[in-house]
Amino acid sequence: MEQPETTEKPWTGRFTEPTDLFVEAFTASVTFDQRMADYDIRGSIAHARMLAEVDVIAAEERDQIIEGLEEILEEIRSGSFKWSIALEDVHMNIESKLVQKIGDVGKKLHTGRSRNDQVATDIRLWLRDEIDAILAEIDRLQEGLLILAEREAETIMPGFTHLQTAQPITFGHHMMAWHEMLVRDHGRLTDCRKRVNVMPLGAAALAGTTYPIDRFMTAKLLGFDAPAENSLDAVSDRDFSIEFTAAASLLMMHLSRFSEELVLWTSDLFSFIELPDSFCTGSSIMPQKKNPDVPELVRGKTGRVYGHMIGLLTLMKGQPLAYNKDNQEDKEPLFDTVDTLKGSLKVYADMMPTVVVNIENTRNAAGRGFSTATDLADYVVRAGVPFRDSHEIVGKAVRYGIEQGKDLAEMTLAELQQFSDVIKEDVFEVLTLEGSVAARNHRGGTAPEQVHAAVRRARRRKAEELSGTASFQDQSY
Ligand code: ARG
Repeated sequence: MEQPETTEKPWTGRFTEPTDLFVEAFTASVTFDQRMADYDIRGSIAHARMLAEVDVIAAEERDQIIEGLEEILEEIRSGSFKWSIALEDVHMNIESKLVQKIGDVGKKLHTGRSRNDQVATDIRLWLRDEIDAILAEIDRLQEGLLILAEREAETIMPGFTHLQTAQPITFGHHMMAWHEMLVRDHGRLTDCRKRVNVMPLGAAALAGTTYPIDRFMTAKLLGFDAPAENSLDAVSDRDFSIEFTAAASLLMMHLSRFSEELVLWTSDLFSFIELPDSFCTGSSIMPQKKNPDVPELVRGKTGRVYGHMIGLLTLMKGQPLAYNKDNQEDKEPLFDTVDTLKGSLKVYADMMPTVVVNIENTRNAAGRGFSTATDLADYVVRAGVPFRDSHEIVGKAVRYGIEQGKDLAEMTLAELQQFSDVIKEDVFEVLTLEGSVAARNHRGGTAPEQVHAAVRRARRRKAEELSGTASFQDQSY
């Protein structure tokens, strides 16, 4: 690292020896926390405005401080700012530069404040913006799924339980299942954001400050909903980070499940979908290979996000109140969680609209494995036979089909009537794949009509969410 002109630490007063060089590097966080520089400066500007408002600093001093901070922000953005390990972290690097720029007035900025409330404020400001960016990516992926669901509302595919063919479903219905998982993820992150958006500033080191500060003013300037209630809790609380990584873990778990399905579906054995070449890679040895690297990587990256959640929980479990240096370890897992999540969502949002469904293959696969056996059982029940007996009747018909190598729809009426005389000519209407999916025509069912309705509801809910009028009990359509 290139050195700034002064690297004198602001806390050396009580020390008689310099810091051991390795210890200096070991305890520093500037290599990673400089990522929060924008937010650190924003927080400092709000703090300076407040200090002037309550007459702790003069208006001219405030203006010099703000001007200096804005210059520093420019330098950081342009890449000319010189970071120093000796100055430990983003906070002291910026403060030291301010003093260098504007002289002793710069030393007044830290009045009524500590790095403990400062760092907690920076993380919250940073994470709030990142959550907003992540919510926007979820919206984009959801819209991609809605487009695909509409396009493939009539497309038949096999639905599985135990990865065995169970009943025919529509591809659109399957996409809407994914969409629904993301609705919950969106809700969880929106909820988490409320607890992120509380302001620690004013807690100072741990007990508050003797200056007549106005925490409500600072909170308002920074867009926080409120100042934190308790100073000890304010500097030590990292629940919001853990909560975020928990919501992120669930989201990654969902993306990982999508990935697992995409990997299966692109395999030759399934051949349900094609991913464009731009989202796949080849093999250096096997010329025929086109590998679904993107879903595989997303599935793989899920592990590190789970790890970060466990890492943060473990980081906090032994800490007495209030701030401890352990907390410096909170940032890297959080940063990596955000990067991994944003990257995974972006690549999914870009990829999903490009998925091509091999509708012949999905339909053929649904036609195998006696997927309409439940439909036949329901048909027999409608003719007055109790369900358990009907289950037995159809079980025998399936066994016969296996022996003869015929699916139910391929049998003649006479063949089917061997198992029950309630079976009539109209049975073939329920044994077709289209008849089977169309018959599941209720809220939450797989019928194409229901897929279209679910897409409409999802779009309307999103619009209501944006206008703040969403209601959970939606009975329409
Ligand atoms: N770099 C520190 C962190 O990330 C900032 C707070 C340091 N406070 C202290 N008293 N050493 O947590």
